Order: sequence, then C-alpha cells, then structure tokens
Amino acid sequence: MKELNIIKIALLGSGTVGTGVYKLVQSQKEEMPHKIGANLEITKILVRDKNKKREGIDNSLLVDNWSEILEDDSIQIVIEVMGGIEPARTYITQALEAGKHVVTANKDLVAEHGKELLDAAEAHHCDLLFEASVAGGIPILRPLKQCLAGNHISEVMGIVNGTTNFILSKMTAEGMDFDEALALATELGYAEADPTADIEGYDAGRKVAIMASIAFNSRVTFSDVHTEGITKITAKDIEYASEVGCVIKLLGVAKNTPEGIEVSVHPMLIPNSHPLAKVDDSFNAVFVHGDAVDDAMFYGRGAGELPTASAIMGDVIDVARNIQFQCTGRISCTCYKDLPIKGIQEVKSKYFLRMQVADKVGVLARIADILGDKKVSIAQVIQKDKHEDVAELVIITDLVLEEYFRDAIDQIKKLDTTKSISSIIRVY
Ligand code: NAP
Ligand code: HSE
Repeated sequence: MKELNIIKIALLGSGTVGTGVYKLVQSQKEEMPHKIGANLEITKILVRDKNKKREGIDNSLLVDNWSEILEDDSIQIVIEVMGGIEPARTYITQALEAGKHVVTANKDLVAEHGKELLDAAEAHHCDLLFEASVAGGIPILRPLKQCLAGNHISEVMGIVNGTTNFILSKMTAEGMDFDEALALATELGYAEADPTADIEGYDAGRKVAIMASIAFNSRVTFSDVHTEGITKITAKDIEYASEVGCVIKLLGVAKNTPEGIEVSVHPMLIPNSHPLAKVDDSFNAVFVHGDAVDDAMFYGRGAGELPTASAIMGDVIDVARNIQFQCTGRISCTCYKDLPIKGIQEVKSKYFLRMQVADKVGVLARIADILGDKKVSIAQVIQKDKHEDVAELVIITDLVLEEYFRDAIDQIKKLDTTKSISSIIRVY
C-alpha cells in the first residue's frame, strides 16, 4: 500500500478554540486519508505557560518559544488561535515568509491588517484562510468568495455577535434588564471576562469589515465601521418595539450603493416577520443579497469551542487538499476594487425616537415642525405614559439622512419642553 503523506501542523494557542481544534484533529484522524489523501498531525502547540493544566492535550507537544515552530521545516500549516494583534501579526507574517500556510480565527487582526497579511501570503504562494474569524461555525467567507463569486453582492447584513444576541433575547423573552442578562451571559461563558468588545459592537464591527471586504471586493477595515453597542437599550425600548411588531437586534449592516459602501453596527428594530428576527439566544445569522442568487441566509452557532474549530478544520482541510495537489495560493486577496466608504452622516435610515416632554398643548406640533423643517417625515407616533406633567413620546420616522436627523435632534433638545431623549434606535 502507498505510504501516505503526513501534513504537520503547529497550533498557536490552546485555549477555548485551540482545544476544540486539537479534539477535532484527533476525532477526524481516520477520515483524513479518505478526505484529503494524507494524514494530518499536530506536532507542536505554542502556549504562554507550559505548566498550565490542559485537559486532553498531549503535554509533550507544548512549546513556549515561537522559533521552535518557525524554524521547523517539517511544519507546513500554522493555525493561529492566540488572538490579539501582536505577536500574532508578526508570527503569521514570519510563517508565510517561511512558506508555511496559515489558518486563523483572529478577527481583530484580519479586520485591521488583512491586506498586509494577504499580500504576504500571495508573495510566498501560501494559503491564508480565516473562515472562523466571522460567525464562528457558520460558513460565510468561503461561500462569499467561492460559491457566490458569480454575483454582484449588494448587501450583507447579520447578527454576528452571540453575546449581545443572547442578552437582547433574554431582555425580550424574559423581561430581564441589561445587567442581569449580561451577568447570565458571563456565567454561561458566552461573554468574555471583559465584555466591552461584545456589548459596544466592536467584535461585530470587525466581522462586518471582513465580510464587506470579501462581498464587495473592496477593502473595508474596522476603523471604517460606524459602531454603536447595546448598553443603552432598555426593557422599555423592547416593549415599544414589540408594540409596533418588531424586535431589537444588534445588526452588522454593509451595503454596496452607487455612491459608496455603507458599513455600520448598531441596534435596530426589525419586523417580527424578517428571518433575522427569529435568530435568538447565542445563535448568529447572516443575510446576503446578490443580483443572481437573490436572498440567501446562513444560520448557526457563531462561537464556542467546537463550532469555531469546525470552521478552522474546514480551512485546514482546504489547505491540505491544495498541498496534495500542489495548488496552494489559488485564491488570495479578492479586493480588486477601491470603492469609497460613506460617512455615517451620508447614510439614510429610519429612526425610533423615545423622549420625555412637557405634557402641554402644542408640544407635539413644535417637534413635528422641527422634524418637517429638517426633511424628517414621521411614520408613526405613540404617546401613552404620563407622569404628572411629563409625557413619553415615541416617534418612528421614514427614511432620512443621518445628518438631517441629527440636526433635528439638536434643535428638539434645545426646546424648553423637552425633558430628555432616552433612545434613538434605527429601524429596518
Ligand atoms: P483563549 O481561550 O484566551 O486562548 C488563547 C490561547 O493562546 C491560550 O492557550 C494562550 O496561552 C495562547 N496565547 C495567547 N497569547 C500568547 C502568546 N503571546 N504566546 C503564546 N501563546 C499565547 O482564546 P480563544 O477564545 O480560544 O480565542 C482564540 C482566537 O479565536 C481569538 O482570535 C478569538 O477572537 C477567536 N475566536 C474565538 C471564538 C470563541 O468562541 N472563543 C470564536 C471565533 C473566533 P496560555 O493557555 O498559556 O495562556
Ligand atoms: N464574543 C464573540 C461572540 C465570540 O459573542 O459572538 C467570538 O467571536
């Protein structure tokens, strides 16, 4: 029988995702000769602390010095699951320069330095794949780059952060307040020890930047994404949303318009009838519109040990097949356009505006006048809660330029009858 090639792999990191990758490589061992015509073997694992107890990991593979991997010519694939910008950026660059293929889950790095890393991969005829960096176990980058390559994609929109979707789902279904839902997300291991990147929308922003770059064939970095988090969403906003047939979700939205790319992350009221409204708990989903495929939606687990490892293994198997057929470096950077990116003030949205005003004759009329002057058309008004001489007013607008809407809000704030503006949320 023909001796099979052994493709050797180094794992950088053995935390949540690294442990999942290690387990999958073991559990898929017998399948590899059939799936790729070779065996896969993890031969080194880089960690910070070699003495830390690691359940199920072969301790003899642990190293704490990157050069032991970089200088090992038998290692063909490096899987980076350490996270953060440095030293991951340096290690990946050096691996590519040494002719090693790289698979990473690092959205922080790809969203900011994707071009430089893809250029290095191309220069050295290596594969650099990062499916796990967006929406965990859900296949989305490969479908955008390959299966949907025959489309002009005009929109990519989705729920790409499990922690915030879990929090908003608990606030909606069980009436929990934000702090209570965040504490539960932390207890269940969804939220990071420092949940800032999740709840402020940065994690989703990085994922949307990566998806938009691939979908529109034009580079979008995290700094191009307008981000708003969910910390200001209250149970009352959720109640009003429900009253108008909507739920509130943290959405990443990227649109390719004739004037440029719109890209943002923010909470949004979406109608109960929209498929994304039914994506609950820690699940993620991405909705894509292409001129040929029309609408397509991708749904599944956006994080966690094995779902994320599943995406990484898919990339590793892809690289291994390319190695077997000597065709690595086939698909590198697909950003061959240089489209302008619109500032948020140039983007049109519908808005939900909740405010507290003096309960007096003419107050609503003055607010309506200001909105009208600034070209803001009102779609719906709700006024019900009254406490002493203060009334709560909810206005839902039609589509309006962000710039005009913000001007109107500045003027409404200056009215002596405006007590406070508690929420401004976009509406689908
Ligand atoms: P994690 O649990 O914190 O694990 C990080 C691992 O990297 C640890 O084993 C750590 O070593 C090692 N490490 C960190 N810095 C290092 C350094 N300078 N030198 C050597 N080793 C270093 O992180 P994770 O949750 O697995 O996430 C890993 C990556 O996957 C991140 O980029 C993350 O954004 C991405 N990701 C995670 C998920 C998820 O569900 N967790 C989903 C999608 C993508 P020690 O063990 O010795 O400390
Ligand atoms: N913290 C992320 C989330 C998982 O909650 O979706 C890693 O991408």
